[in-house]
Amino acid sequence: MACRDGQTLSALVEKARKLSFEGKVANYIPALQKESPDHLSCAIAYPEGDCFSAGDINKKFTLQSISKIITLALVLMDYGPERVFHRVGMEPTGDPFNSIIKLETSSKAKPLNPMINAGALAVTSMIKGSSAEEKVDYIMNFVKKLTNEPEIDYCEEVAISEFTTSFLNRSLCFYMKGDGVIHGNVEEIMEVYTKQCAIRLNCLQLARVGLVFAMDGRNPLTDEQVMPKEVARICKTFMVTCGMYNASGEFAIRIGIPAKSGVSGGIMGSVPGRMGIGIFGPALNEVGNSHTGLKLLELLQEKYDLSMF
Ligand code: DON
Repeated sequence: MACRDGQTLSALVEKARKLSFEGKVANYIPALQKESPDHLSCAIAYPEGDCFSAGDINKKFTLQSISKIITLALVLMDYGPERVFHRVGMEPTGDPFNSIIKLETSSKAKPLNPMINAGALAVTSMIKGSSAEEKVDYIMNFVKKLTNEPEIDYCEEVAISEFTTSFLNRSLCFYMKGDGVIHGNVEEIMEVYTKQCAIRLNCLQLARVGLVFAMDGRNPLTDEQVMPKEVARICKTFMVTCGMYNASGEFAIRIGIPAKSGVSGGIMGSVPGRMGIGIFGPALNEVGNSHTGLKLLELLQEKYDLSMF
């Protein structure tokens, strides 16, 4: 069964929104703390082209860690899995997304997976282009294809806010550079990374990105194969094993779909062969996932049997 009824979706959004007081808006990136914790919007996009939404569909938010799945898809297409997994591993960590501890304890500072900050920075260091500007354009053009929208941009204020305060991410880069896991200029990697994290979409556009992954890399709106099926498969697998950070196991049990979160409060869901989901709820739980977004997904799973398991 699918959610093809805007009224039911609105009722579920209102129910989940009531829990926003239990979450907290991210503040370690100063520009993110302006969001209102009780905002909650959701869109569900289907392969036939129809879409259902609730809440303020026009409200844009930055992708933050959701961008990690997009850059991963790009480098997998450009270099193939073998070269990518030479730089970054495939295993969940059980540690917070910005932890440095596993870089210290492994023999070489190879990040455990591309969904933690260290792994995503290693992936960003592989993005093609001869300058930060070219690399950011390359990522943006891919997002335009995924969303089918030519006007996608990034939020300069959020990008600068993170770039000027991101000492821990810089440390992760230097640590990996010291061990030869990443090459290149750390400031340039940080510029590209903070801009990719600041790409802004609304929840309908995010649902469309989720739908492309759900449909094995084919954009059903244009019928274009945007990425090979194998790349979409690897990305969805990471969404299941590491997409919700050190809460991925609980998420697999409670909801059971490939999904990726960001500290802005965004969650992208890809229900294989069925639908893409875009959610924005900036009230976060202690792990850094959207508290209201998770509640909403739980309600949707109960009602529409979304789990793949
Ligand atoms: O690197 C950071 O810390 C942020 N730009 C992204 C982190 C993030 O979204 C983690 N999400 N739950």
